[in-house]
Parts: sequence; structure tokens; C-alpha cells
Amino acid sequence: MKAAYINEFGGPEVVMFGDMPVPEPKDDEILVRNTIIGVGKPDYLVRSGNDPYLEDALPGLIIGNESGGVVEAVGPDVKEIKPGDKVAVLNATGCGSHAEYSCAKENYAIKLPNGVEPEMVPGILNLQVAYALLFDAGKGTDGESIYISGAAGGIGTTIIQMAKASGIKVVASASTDEKCEALAKLGADCVFNYKSKDAKEEVLKATNGKGADIIYDQTAGKKLIERFDYLADFGQIILYNWLDGSPEFDQLDTIIKRAPHAQAVRAFSFHVFDDKPARRLSNADKCFDMIRDGRVKPLICRDFPLEKAREAHELLDSGKAIGKIIMHP
Ligand SMILES: NC(=O)c1ccc[n+]([C@@H]2O[C@H](COP(=O)([O-])OP(=O)(O)OC[C@H]3O[C@@H](n4cnc5c(N)ncnc54)[C@H](OP(=O)(O)O)[C@@H]3O)[C@@H](O)[C@H]2O)c1
Repeated sequence: MKAAYINEFGGPEVVMFGDMPVPEPKDDEILVRNTIIGVGKPDYLVRSGNDPYLEDALPGLIIGNESGGVVEAVGPDVKEIKPGDKVAVLNATGCGSHAEYSCAKENYAIKLPNGVEPEMVPGILNLQVAYALLFDAGKGTDGESIYISGAAGGIGTTIIQMAKASGIKVVASASTDEKCEALAKLGADCVFNYKSKDAKEEVLKATNGKGADIIYDQTAGKKLIERFDYLADFGQIILYNWLDGSPEFDQLDTIIKRAPHAQAVRAFSFHVFDDKPARRLSNADKCFDMIRDGRVKPLICRDFPLEKAREAHELLDSGKAIGKIIMHP
């Protein structure tokens, strides 16, 4: 089969394309003929050698974390999924999906219901993460408004649509005016370029001085402490990555001093569902409903043939992508 793989960790230049053996499903695995492949930040983490959940080894490591397709074969311990089923796969190992065929544990595949084709679920991980960020991690606040910075990626563009479909006011920012235009088109109520505008001023203005009930932060680092200034009472900062590293302040001390505002910080990883398959499936069902009835339409940035996986990774690393990058085998 054709596949994109790496022999060493590094930038997009390490992504190779060529022939690899079709993988054999283990007892608890399914073999999927992929018809669509998603490309996202988890793939960057694996490719660059920074994924703490990485289990497979170099050389000849097929990269890729998400795909959709048709089940070709199943191992003897697979219970619910059968050959011929259409599935979306989020590979827990973070590897294997940039290929014509890939294996995954049954728990990591989601059988697509009638009316949902693999083509309709690019970035299913984005949908599921966005849903969990909004409706699981986001519990316990007034829930009227959110602020998401760096919102033009796969997850950000999905959160905006889901939040708007749920009647939540959305404040969103990005690093370029072009990205900001795209966020406004998706329905965000207030959009600003965080390089040229002050986030505190913009968020307070958009929320009539109250602050956002939830602030989604993927950077953490030094800026985290400033976020409390435009977080509402009972508000919550939800960290879903920490691209700028740990904050250099005592977070608990800050939160205690701000007790009259009853604010909180939560760090979230989708891996919280690894041992909760029923909850993960219920999350998927809600996402499928939203796709089916058109409340959420994944924003596709570009569609590459699999043989151009290196170019897809170049676009991923460029920071210029707006929405989800996909590939077709
Ligand atoms: N917690 C979880 O379970 C979970 C699961 C999946 C993904 N994630 C994380 O969620 C984030 C978004 O994922 P995605 O797939 O939507 O990614 P993406 O499509 O690559 O988009 C990332 C966006 O983040 C912005 N950004 C802000 N600071 C950045 C930085 N220092 N480096 C790179 N980009 C930066 C970029 O826009 P601007 O340049 O406009 O800021 C970009 O549009 C990633 O950090 C990813 O690792 C978390």
C-alpha cells in the first residue's frame, strides 16, 4: 500500500512517501481502508518527536492520527464493528493513518451512523474535542460567552460554529486579518487581530464589561495571568495545550487572591475519554447530529493527495492554514 512515513523526527522534510506493507490487525483491532485522512497538530507532535503518547518506533513510522473509511477485516476480539462498516478513526497511538490502510483498536473507531459518510467527518477529532471543550470541560460557568484565541485552526473554527449553534456569544481572535475575516464569516460575534488589538479591551467590550465565561487558551505561558482580567465571575480558563510552556506564576495563589471572582483554571486532554468508551461514543453521536443537521460544517482548508503529505505538513507548520487540512489516498 502507499503511505507517508518518517525515518527520523523533524520538520516536514522528513515526511516520505512510498510502499509499505498493509498492516495486520491484532486481536482487538480493525483494519480500515481509508477514504479520507485528516492532518492536524497531533501529527506535527508525532512527526517532530514531541508526542508523549507515542508508542511506535522509527524507522518506517507511518504517521497520522485520524482517518475515515471502510472496515476491511477485524481481529477475533472485536465485538461491535464488522467488515463493511464505515468508520471514523482517531488513532490512540497517534500513528498509522497517513496510509491507504490502517489498523486501530475497536475503542478508537466510531461506527458511522446512516446518513454520515466518511467524507462528511474530516477532522472528527476536532468535532469531538470541540464538543468536549464546550460541553464537558466548560461546565460550571454562566456559559453565556466564550473567548478563543488563535481560533482559525481546525478546533477553533469548529468551536465557533458549535457555540453559535448553541446560542453562546463568541469572541474570537487570530494573528492575521485574513484569518479574522474567515472567523467573522463563521459567525463569531466579535473578532479581532490579537497582534494589533488588546485582548482585554476587546473581550470586555464584547461582553459589556463582564468578561468571557470561558477563555480557551492553547498557549499558557506568560500571558495566562493576564487572562484573569477579562474572565467573568464564575469564569473558567480552559487550557487545551501549552505551546508557550508553563506559566511563571503561582496559579493557585492567583486564584485564591481572586476568590471574590470565583474563577478557575482547568487543563483538558481528550485522553480523559481513553477509559470511558461509552462517554466517547455519546460525544460522537452528538457531533454526528450536528453534522447531519448542518449546525456544524467542518471548514476545509485544503485537500491534498496522500502522495503530497509533505506539502500538507508544510502547510500545517506554516501557520497559514484556515480550517482543516485533509488528504485523499
Ligand atoms: N487538549 C486536547 O485534547 C487537544 C486535542 C487536539 C488538539 N489539541 C490542541 O488544540 C490546538 C488546536 O489544534 P488544531 O488542530 O485546531 O490546530 P491548527 O489547525 O494547526 O490551528 C492552530 C491555531 O493555533 C494558533 N496558534 C496560536 N498560537 C500558536 C502557536 N504558538 N503555534 C502554532 N499555532 C498557534 C494558530 O493561529 P494564529 O497564528 O492565528 O494564532 C492556528 O490557527 C493545538 O494546540 C492542538 O495541539 C488539543
